Amino acid sequence: MGKIITIKNNKGGVGKTFIATQLASGLSMLDKKVLILTSDSQNNVFSYLLKGNHEFEKGLKTQVTKGNGEYFRLRENLYFLPLEDSKFSPQFIKALPAFLDKCKNEYDYIVVDSTPVLKIDNVFLDNTDYILIPGYADKVTTESIINVLEQVDTKKILGIVLNRYRSSEIQNMFLQEVKSATEDTNISFITPIPHLSFIEKMLYNQKTIWEFTNKDANRVQDIFCEIIARIKEEESIN
Ligand SMILES: Nc1ncnc2c1ncn2[C@@H]1O[C@H](COP(=O)(O)OP(=O)(O)OP(=O)(O)O)[C@@H](O)[C@H]1O
Ligand SMILES: [Mg+2]
Repeated sequence: MGKIITIKNNKGGVGKTFIATQLASGLSMLDKKVLILTSDSQNNVFSYLLKGNHEFEKGLKTQVTKGNGEYFRLRENLYFLPLEDSKFSPQFIKALPAFLDKCKNEYDYIVVDSTPVLKIDNVFLDNTDYILIPGYADKVTTESIINVLEQVDTKKILGIVLNRYRSSEIQNMFLQEVKSATEDTNISFITPIPHLSFIEKMLYNQKTIWEFTNKDANRVQDIFCEIIARIKEEESIN
């Protein structure tokens, strides 16, 4: 049975899509079949991973209700089923859990690049095996992380990963706050991902961190390996 991993934070721009795409591509390189789903009809996954035309008419909604959505192959073993729009019929919402279950028979991992769109996001969260919470070390995002901790089943949380981290007085203060919020829990505090111009450029060129061998790439790869190790650890328990 495959596992669903949802990248969840209610804040925009913290790196949800960046983290979802790098994690998914990392897992696919371990010879695992991986599908990316999203509750964000902007489908930014395309801009980070696929060169060329990605027009589509039939996506997740059509796949769930009629069985003929268009899957895009992003890399070897890595697929994406985009989302048409944010209008969800009761029929779609009702059928989504059974579809997710079916995906678990076909894929080793389903990575969900989520966005707080009511209804659909809750279905993903209810059916997910693991939740990874990305964040940014500032006041509003720290509040939002604490919010998510209260909103979801903490047993499912793989960890919190701060992104776009720069060692400044304020960021260090919020890093400590987030870290201490995890201290008496089983929630892992993952090594923060630094803010790097390498990452901006890499995403602009629709590459993944696994397609480089420079020092910056290696540093970020190590952090994603830490996240993958957390997944493996959870899988060995359950
Ligand atoms: N570690 C990083 N270093 C530098 N730039 C980064 C880093 N992580 C993300 N970015 C940049 O930050 C921007 C936002 O990232 P991303 O699109 O992944 O966020 P998001 O949470 O998915 O946003 P949205 O809420 O709009 O879906 C992008 O332009 C991306 O290139
Ligand atoms: Mg996004």
